[in-house]
Amino acid sequence: MLDGHEKGTYDVGLVGLGVMGSNFALNIADHGYSVAGYNRKEDKIKYLSEIKSAHHQIGMTQDLQILCQMVKKPRTIILLIPAGDAVDSVIEELVPFLETGDLLIDSGNSHFSDTDRRNETLKKRNLLFMGMGMSGGESGARHGPSLMPGGAEEGYERIKPILEASAAQVGDSACVAYMGAGSAGHYVKMVHNGIEYGLMQLIAESYDLLKRGLGLQAEELHSVYRRWNQGVLNSYLMEITADIFRQKDDRTDRPLIDMIADQARQKGTGEWTVSDALNIQVPTPTIDAAVMMRHLSAYKEERQEAEGCLHGPDKFLKKEKEQFLNQLERALYCANIVIYAQGMALLRQASETYAYHLQPQTVARVWKGGCIIRAALLETIQSAYTADPDLINLLLAPPLTQQVETRQADWRDVVVAGVESGIAIPGLMTSLAYWDAYRSSWLPANLIMAQRDYFGSHTYQRVDMEGTFHTRWGSD
Ligand code: 6PG
Repeated sequence: MLDGHEKGTYDVGLVGLGVMGSNFALNIADHGYSVAGYNRKEDKIKYLSEIKSAHHQIGMTQDLQILCQMVKKPRTIILLIPAGDAVDSVIEELVPFLETGDLLIDSGNSHFSDTDRRNETLKKRNLLFMGMGMSGGESGARHGPSLMPGGAEEGYERIKPILEASAAQVGDSACVAYMGAGSAGHYVKMVHNGIEYGLMQLIAESYDLLKRGLGLQAEELHSVYRRWNQGVLNSYLMEITADIFRQKDDRTDRPLIDMIADQARQKGTGEWTVSDALNIQVPTPTIDAAVMMRHLSAYKEERQEAEGCLHGPDKFLKKEKEQFLNQLERALYCANIVIYAQGMALLRQASETYAYHLQPQTVARVWKGGCIIRAALLETIQSAYTADPDLINLLLAPPLTQQVETRQADWRDVVVAGVESGIAIPGLMTSLAYWDAYRSSWLPANLIMAQRDYFGSHTYQRVDMEGTFHTRWGSD
């Protein structure tokens, strides 16, 4: 029984008609492609039936076998379901109805190691598999997300026209490109999210400096972020931050931001970024700080108790407002550059470790539109990698070096202000420490090596000759 649908006529199948799935189905259908949608739950199907227009060619079923019959062969089926066990269950249920050469695309926020595992399993069954990062939230899915597909390249060629039509467009290019082999797509999305965490943390720190440091209220905060969004900090996150400060709470008529509990939650992609950065030994201290601060924010009760007994300086900043606002804008810009530098350095190493063959200029291009971390800065980043695709660290790209160098005095002043006032700004501070350590040919690691050798005979290398050395410390 085909539920009245025609057999083998739909361009693409889509499993999962939640908000993201429904929106992506509508987006694809807007561009003239037909979509066969599946959801186990009737209410989701009903909802999409109600909101789709007559011109949208979207058929729907609650039966996976029927879904597979509806899609043209060789089939392409996109999964837009929560990452984790659900993806394995759906794949297991789908596989008996698929044939050699069919393509499955997991577009959730799956961990890249799961994508590698699924890829291996499906390859043995002669099926093509791709892990595709999708960014942009509900509105991105509906009107043009940034898409980061990786895995089976032959599968990408098949789905490319549909992805290019439905992705965000910047200038004359679509924010989608084949990222690389295996789990490259999901890895790039994971790092996108790590950068997202870092940028959000920096904005939160600037808000703290302005709110508790300068005493700015929501209306004024709205103006500051709106102004910043018109300059070098222009980005999606700046734009929504400005909007957030204008939003009133329906219940109290106060600014909604003041009614939101100060405990940040997370689904885990930031942690995955930090964890794999540790695993492949790439320093990403600003992203680490962002994850750490989300954790610390969750300790609300402990923080409340501690505030009563751990004392520090008065949080109020003795600063001239306009001058400090300009300094903070410059500091934020430097720290933003450092976060992208850390994320891109992680991608560079991951590309080698996992044989992804990533093109940094392509990653930057795909992030220019549709995604959460889209920003004017990505234009400069893309140009830097186009000029030198082998650039080992973004901070070494001449235009970015110059942009940081000309702003660093203000960045240092802002960090000092945070330290003096006792407002925690770990993102701004660790970015500055990264910049200072990275540009230093000497670091005090010689002392760490001496200590290791002293207490554990771990040996050390010398600056004046080859070899491995050990000293019996403390004896003359
Ligand atoms: C995106 C976002 C999205 C992410 C949310 C929440 O690119 O559209 O990164 O994928 O799931 O932003 O993430 P956290 O719950 O971890 O903050």
